[in-house]
Amino acid sequence: MMKRFEGQVAVVSGGADGCGRAAALRLSQEGAKVGILDVNGEMGMKTVADIEAGGGEVLFIRTDVSNGAAVHAGIKAVMAAFGRIDALYNHAGTVIVKPFLETSEADWNRLMAINVNSMFHSCQAVLPHMIAAGSGAIVNTTSISGITASALEAAYCTSKGACIQLTRSIAVEFRDQGIRCNSVAPALIRTAHGMREAEELVTLGQDWSDGDVAKMQGRICEPEEVAAAALFLLSKDASFINGETLIVDNGQFATT
Ligand SMILES: NC(=O)c1ccc[n+]([C@@H]2O[C@H](COP(=O)([O-])OP(=O)(O)OC[C@H]3O[C@@H](n4cnc5c(N)ncnc54)[C@H](O)[C@@H]3O)[C@@H](O)[C@H]2O)c1
Repeated sequence: MMKRFEGQVAVVSGGADGCGRAAALRLSQEGAKVGILDVNGEMGMKTVADIEAGGGEVLFIRTDVSNGAAVHAGIKAVMAAFGRIDALYNHAGTVIVKPFLETSEADWNRLMAINVNSMFHSCQAVLPHMIAAGSGAIVNTTSISGITASALEAAYCTSKGACIQLTRSIAVEFRDQGIRCNSVAPALIRTAHGMREAEELVTLGQDWSDGDVAKMQGRICEPEEVAAAALFLLSKDASFINGETLIVDNGQFATT
């Protein structure tokens, strides 16, 4: 196992489950102390136990990342515990599957709050520490749905498109302070989020059988594969990659 994050501190939002959990585990295996901000306390505790069982140091802060004050408090707690933040992986997010005309203003605002505002809050909380240190790396989880549109997911596609632009904006504004910001844009992943999304799309008449998924992306993506892409972008291996969105889809986008 490489040790690309030895001596570093990484924060993972949505690090209790799915790709965020896979990233938190691997960041720890590669030497980082890890702060996890996630709303799911039960899975958060499981991830903490797994990291500690491997000899790693971790702090879990139960946080709804759509709440700015809670995110700032969480980052403050990580700084108090570990003294620095070198890497920020903004992974927490969710999806609403609904016909556009049935999408309420409350649905729209909730999705923007969880998917977009969360990144606004965490970047605002973490960037001053990275600026003071003169270095830092941020990765945001976006989606191929932030680049190509899919029916029944207008709010989701819009939110992920916004996250891609936030990624570029931060890259441009903070490059000269030694900070990079990139995103990973996955296709369908075998996580609670991905399974619910596919199930709800099937209920509304779309085809998401294993065969349909195989036609689009060869096979379903595993959470560890998204984590590996995110860690590459967070690591010094990606030292000259900034403002980029790395599509993690096994060639699906290449066929469009
Ligand atoms: N699963 C897919 O097919 C897929 C594809 C592309 C992009 N994504 C993106 O990945 C993310 C979903 O992650 P996953 O697929 O690993 O699924 P997941 O559901 O296993 O993990 C998401 C994690 O985010 C946490 N979370 C959700 N809302 C939160 C909130 N308000 N505050 C704090 N934590 C919160 C959950 O508790 C969970 O631990 C989203 O950003 C989504 O847009 C997923």
